[in-house]
Amino acid sequence: MCKGTIYFLIFPIMNEICRFMKDVEVGLLLTFALEIINIKKMMINKDLYQFTQSLDFMKFTLHQYLLDCSEPMLIATGTTQQAETIIPEIKNILGDRLLSSILVSHMESDECGGIFRIHELWPEAVVVCSEMTGRELYGFGYTGKIKTVKGGEILKGTDYELEAIDYPSEVHLQNGCLFFERKRGILYSADLMLSFGMAAGKVIEKNWEQAVGEIGIERIPNEVFLHEMKKRLLAIHPRFVAVGHGYCLKV
Ligand SMILES: [Fe+2]
Ligand SMILES: [Fe+2]
Repeated sequence: MCKGTIYFLIFPIMNEICRFMKDVEVGLLLTFALEIINIKKMMINKDLYQFTQSLDFMKFTLHQYLLDCSEPMLIATGTTQQAETIIPEIKNILGDRLLSSILVSHMESDECGGIFRIHELWPEAVVVCSEMTGRELYGFGYTGKIKTVKGGEILKGTDYELEAIDYPSEVHLQNGCLFFERKRGILYSADLMLSFGMAAGKVIEKNWEQAVGEIGIERIPNEVFLHEMKKRLLAIHPRFVAVGHGYCLKV
């Protein structure tokens, strides 16, 4: 079957998903319709699995993560289509354990498009997100458990300490969240440290100050907010950055 045929078969479905998720990343979703997902899974850091879908022709990757701690956390669901592809992998890793929480940085298709499907399978999993994202999920009809967090708030479990960091990624540059697991030194940076390249499973070493310094105005197009974001990041000391797209960082 040629790509054109696949495109026309999948377009109506993708269109529905785009309408559902506010049209964000429409181009990305349509690109997915043409590419059909290939997925890679690997343990990229201690207790951290990375799932990657690669758009080879544009050298772009989309990652989700499973933090395999005492209360397993899924970090980003991917789109509905992506979630379907990683669900068997998650089940394999968890065995008879349950998914405990789903960390949602902000309301975009690659962060939480698949959340309804994940909720069907793990209805007790708690979505951890900002108050604004929580309201948006509610608005879209999400009925699962939601724990909203503010910047600086820390959620403690048996073997983790999860700190929320304000991230102006939501509509009109308002509050989304990054997540910093302090015991392992893992920061989930969502779109903030995005890079291109065939980066599935790849990690590069970087000085933290340099990595923060390289975040450009295109990531947060407001100079004041960008400056404040960098200050918040420089106040933490991650050892590993799990990015939403591109190369992870060993710091
Ligand atoms: Fe995003
Ligand atoms: Fe993203």
